[in-house]
Amino acid sequence: MKRSLPGVAGRALLLFLVPLLAACAEEYPQSTINPQSDFAAIIHSLYVSIFWWTMLILAVVWVALAWVLVKYRRKSENDQPKQIRGHLGLEIGWTVGPALIVVAIVIPTIQAVFATQRPISEDALLVEVTGHRFWWEFHYPEYGVTTANEIRLPVDRPVSLRLESADVIHSFWVPVLGGKRDLNPVPAVREGRDKKYNWLYFTPEVTGVFMGQCAEFCGESHALMAKRAIVETEAEFEAWIASWFASEGAAAPEPPEPADAEPGDALPEEVAEARPAGQDEDPRIAQGRELFMNSTCIACHAVQGTSAQGAIAPNLTLFGTRRTLASGIMENNEDNLVRWIIDPQGIKPAAAMPGVDYPGGNWPATNFSEEEVRAISAYLLSLK
Ligand code: CUA
Repeated sequence: MKRSLPGVAGRALLLFLVPLLAACAEEYPQSTINPQSDFAAIIHSLYVSIFWWTMLILAVVWVALAWVLVKYRRKSENDQPKQIRGHLGLEIGWTVGPALIVVAIVIPTIQAVFATQRPISEDALLVEVTGHRFWWEFHYPEYGVTTANEIRLPVDRPVSLRLESADVIHSFWVPVLGGKRDLNPVPAVREGRDKKYNWLYFTPEVTGVFMGQCAEFCGESHALMAKRAIVETEAEFEAWIASWFASEGAAAPEPPEPADAEPGDALPEEVAEARPAGQDEDPRIAQGRELFMNSTCIACHAVQGTSAQGAIAPNLTLFGTRRTLASGIMENNEDNLVRWIIDPQGIKPAAAMPGVDYPGGNWPATNFSEEEVRAISAYLLSLK
């Protein structure tokens, strides 16, 4: 079948427009050729310059090859080209030429290494990033805020990520912002010596949602250790910090903590039960809150403003505002959350969270009924 020219042109246009329009989506694909920070721009310009050098080399080699093929093609049975064994000029040429190419690549590479390792400015936002099998913890010491799997950053403010691992080596990588850089277990050092963390400095230059993931094999669910970087305006970022403290884990006001309660203590049952429900609160939310606060959930998870102060699993404050679930691998909605609570290891092998029927990490199965799981999900999604 013969295609009409407008048809072909239309397809070509479509081919051009689809990626172009895809770039308009709020969520950026995981790509290294679309830099959105100073760090990523340095890496990208290095990549582009080396790409064009290699294209030049490719062109020279192909033209030379074509010329040789034509000029020295065999013309008869006895035809033999001129023998050039030990030709001094050629030997020097093909030694010095590639050496110069290597030098041309090494110089900008070393410049990029130094540019991306430079000391961070004073006004940088410090975020302590801890890698866990298989999720990300983000702590903002300036604010006392801890979150998981979705790192929020204000646009145009330099950020300084202090990288550490709670178990094995992971690697921070949000391609459009920069990285990769390893998160190592940082052993306790002798007194008076600074711990040797890895650091990553960059300034996000546009707002958006940027995908990233762990870039160092860390076990069964390494490939399921994704994350998002949410770059927002300074005002949006400040509002997020404020809502983190304003959120009491629910719309309901908090009863005062008993004076002798330690963080991490289970809430006495009568207090949990006395917690008044919000005005138009879904009864499932109240039920879910009570289940959550009186189960092993709070041994590991924390919710700001409640007695849940576990610190070994993702902090669930403002959980309902998260876009994704289980370290960036699923959309955060009730059905997915129910699936996750019922069977975490079925979704993410070796996840440390126990399921309804199966233990996880060092924890026994939770034995929640599906109705209870739905109530807990409703509660968690209400954390906004
Ligand atoms: Cu964490 Cu791979």
